[in-house]
Amino acid sequence: MEQQRAPAGESAAGAPWYLEVMDARIPWQSGTHERRVENFYSRGAEDFGDCHGGYLNFGLWESGFSYLQAAENLVTHLGAWGGLSHDSRLLDVGCGFGAQDILLARKFGPAQITGLDVTWPHVRAARHRARVAGLSLEVRFQHGSATELEFPDGSFTHVLSIEGVVHFNTRERFLQQASRVLRPGGVLLLADYALKRKPVRRMDKLFVSATQKGWQIPAENVDTLGSYREKVARSGFTQVEVVSAGDRTIPQYFEEQTGGAHLASMLRIRGALAAAGGLAIDWFAWQAWKRGQLDYVLVRAVKR
Ligand SMILES: C[S@@+](CC[C@H](N)C(=O)[O-])C[C@H]1O[C@@H](n2cnc3c(N)ncnc32)[C@H](O)[C@@H]1O
Repeated sequence: MEQQRAPAGESAAGAPWYLEVMDARIPWQSGTHERRVENFYSRGAEDFGDCHGGYLNFGLWESGFSYLQAAENLVTHLGAWGGLSHDSRLLDVGCGFGAQDILLARKFGPAQITGLDVTWPHVRAARHRARVAGLSLEVRFQHGSATELEFPDGSFTHVLSIEGVVHFNTRERFLQQASRVLRPGGVLLLADYALKRKPVRRMDKLFVSATQKGWQIPAENVDTLGSYREKVARSGFTQVEVVSAGDRTIPQYFEEQTGGAHLASMLRIRGALAAAGGLAIDWFAWQAWKRGQLDYVLVRAVKR
């Protein structure tokens, strides 16, 4: 699927050529997966502001944590696990509102962070966040799709994706792209979802298919922990670690999401229909976790 960008917008002086041409919006064609995901995430995005600190992740929880502490703990954990340092060039795919990239820039000071997202209002909000933080040159954001990365081979030392991969069409196509744009020895870091076991019983199938359809997840992305590991390994990675973290993410996040204060914010920001839809998806995910089926995984692998 070849997509044309709208005429180029503003770009910062001194940026590499491939960033200069990638500043503009891509009008996703009707009927494409990208268009459906962009529509899904655009609702209320302009009003999201600093709700949840701009994070959309489930968090990595410790006892007594607030949502913001859990969200930042997840991001910091991944950055440290990947060994981010001053020499790093990081690509963050499915960067959302960019809050995680500002945090990573401040904590680890990498040479460059490029955030990419399929949802245009997310890209705009992320650019605004970088401007306010005074980090517009070090942290750049662009519109694009995870499965058609426009960067030259070996451009990055790290590729990160926090809770984006499950949507990508497909997970495996993204892994191949991530492998291509990483230099040899580069590190892949993911926070994602996988199944502990294949859905065999009728109820299991119902929960998996409701979560998949409501959340814009391609059927090919319904992986078990085992098939997940195999996909990463056959996409050009070695030292593949897939760590189960469901117990530290899903139940605490669901509890926080269903608290009165957060529900009221979602109603105001996303409207009644979308807020109810979001809650239903969270409920199905929580039920699937309680049934011992859904897991949340942290993944680290090294480009061969
Ligand atoms: C659950 S949100 C997580 C956002 C952010 N990583 C965070 O944790 O706050 C998933 C993000 O992935 C983005 N996304 C989904 N499909 C994508 C694709 N094909 N290419 C790039 N981004 C995509 C969505 O627009 C959304 O911003």
